Amino acid sequence: MTETRDVALPDTSELYYPDPALVEQSNVMAYARSKGFNSYDELYQWTISHREEFWADMASQLEWFKPWDKVLDDSNKPFYQWFVGGKTNIVYNAIDRHLKTWRKNKLALIWEGEDGSQRTYSYYQLNYEVSRIANVLKSMGVKKGDIVTIYMPRIPELMFSMLACAKIGAAHSVVYGGFSEAALADRLADAKSKVLITADGGYMRGKVVELKKIVNEALSRTPTVQTCLVFRHTNHGAPMEQGRDFWMHDLLGLPIANGHCPTEEMDAEDMLFILYTSGTTGKPKGVVHTHGGYMVGTYTTLKFVFDIKDEDRYWCAADPGWITGHSFIVYAPLINGATSFMYEGAPNYPYPDRWWSMVAKHGITILYTAPTAIRGLMRFGDLWPSRHDLSTLRLLGSVGEPINPEAWKWFYEKIGHGRCPIMDTWWQTETGHFMITPTPAVPLKPGSATRPFLGIEADVVHEDGSPCAPDEDGLLVIKNPWPGMMRTILNDPQRYVEGYWQKVPPYYAAGDSARKDKDGYIWVIGRLDDVIKVSGYRLGTAEVESALVSHPAVAEAAAIGLPHEVKGNAIHAFVILRAGYEPSHDLEEKLRAHVGHELGPIARPDSITFVTSLPKTRSGKIMRRVLRARALGLPEGDVSTLEE
Ligand code: PRX
Repeated sequence: MTETRDVALPDTSELYYPDPALVEQSNVMAYARSKGFNSYDELYQWTISHREEFWADMASQLEWFKPWDKVLDDSNKPFYQWFVGGKTNIVYNAIDRHLKTWRKNKLALIWEGEDGSQRTYSYYQLNYEVSRIANVLKSMGVKKGDIVTIYMPRIPELMFSMLACAKIGAAHSVVYGGFSEAALADRLADAKSKVLITADGGYMRGKVVELKKIVNEALSRTPTVQTCLVFRHTNHGAPMEQGRDFWMHDLLGLPIANGHCPTEEMDAEDMLFILYTSGTTGKPKGVVHTHGGYMVGTYTTLKFVFDIKDEDRYWCAADPGWITGHSFIVYAPLINGATSFMYEGAPNYPYPDRWWSMVAKHGITILYTAPTAIRGLMRFGDLWPSRHDLSTLRLLGSVGEPINPEAWKWFYEKIGHGRCPIMDTWWQTETGHFMITPTPAVPLKPGSATRPFLGIEADVVHEDGSPCAPDEDGLLVIKNPWPGMMRTILNDPQRYVEGYWQKVPPYYAAGDSARKDKDGYIWVIGRLDDVIKVSGYRLGTAEVESALVSHPAVAEAAAIGLPHEVKGNAIHAFVILRAGYEPSHDLEEKLRAHVGHELGPIARPDSITFVTSLPKTRSGKIMRRVLRARALGLPEGDVSTLEE
């Protein structure tokens, strides 16, 4: 097993008990009482012994065009199916359902741009905007089953476009707006998208990010896209190609783009979206999610973990382009009828109190973010948050990587003022929704995602599947299927089977190392595979390496992650140059910029070291573990297969 521990082991005995009033009034305890249980633990035990009954109970709180025949079909493992025979559409539950109630006038979304401009949308207006885009897509020939790629800044139209696709039965594939040409081109080609939705640009730290320019370069590398629909946001004169590119504001002015569009009836198992994520090879994996199970899983986890109520103003500060945004900015909040807040720009623009000023201005009650953002803002000192009234906050959340106890405590004390429990949610693109997480009824330990969610059994095991002893490092596995689980990898079902189900059969292997303490609390340590979490973003070493070798100076490259105070991990690369090139500071800068240009700024290595050889196994596989150990001055471990 590869050793990936980056943090000193936290104190596993420290417990933070939630305020009894919060527990008493929580959604999850209301549900427990309705089932005749007095404690969260009793409820959890029941959801494990009655797993299908529990999830069916949750599913029946939503609307179905036709009820399911079977909750779980496990006849073709690991291709599990949920709510088999059921007909629904996630958009019907996210929007249409609310239009029949007073919630049609409730705010669905409050958006603030980096320049301070503001827009709000009620559920009624949301339906109008989504329907108009859906009608445009239909007029462009988009049909049920097509995959539409979306590449957008963090503006409401990103959310509307995703919902418009789902409404008419097309799947969306959102590529994060921080990615660049090569990443976008690869994803377009794998999904074979004919239609791409984008914007002219976005704002970041007062500057325009030229999205349309990146799109044009990506489209020159991949031939599938016939139609490119462009929202106007920065209005800076983006380059358009006649015949292929259309301004959305023109199309939305046409009679065809009216505010009525029927919501397509979908099978529970029909594809809702694909989302590419990094794995062991350079080729990103298109993780497939479906309408029915994903809808039930995201709805339930948000309702019980972030305790969503009608009075809340909920802010998930992620980007809709990542799974956190798909599940917990777009779908789950809307299904729960919540009011969400979305902000386009940088957390410290123009000053390091931007976030705190928006919490005060909009009366945010729930703030869900990532350890890297917390560490980044913590660096500026306590004075910035102390200037603002943060008393509306009642719950905080963290996701993306292990949160170090120091950052946890700062968040808890300086932002939550010791009143707001932190929901440290462990999950993945593949799992669709929270898997290991507290609810407001669970005592917390700083740095631990605590215990598995209702209906979920997670454990830490050896490679042969036998359970680890308390506090022993092992592999994190999930023992039973759950509704929002990925269904397969697009175009590569074998990779799904091998990558997740054949590592520690019959369990789902998450790819993380972890330990479980004597109280059953799970402490995630980090990734075991060739995946690096940089600022919570998931990058594959192979993607960085292939970006490097696409530069004419580079013969071979290896990328590793090393601990970084704010980013969690930073990328460091080792490069063998081609004949005729000499190492220099200038070349190092050029190569770093090249990776940034190809993949996106987040993938730019912090340093590049020029070497003449790389540690490899006899079969030619680069031993990144050895490079990492050397860089950290640690023992190299088992190097019996090393040939250098
Ligand atoms: O290593 C774990 C880490 O993020 C990985 C999943 O990355 P991604 O698919 O990009 O999804 C991130 C957002 C859900 C996991 O394998 N991770 C995620 N949440 C946590 C975490 N590690 C520790 N604690 C968490 N709360």
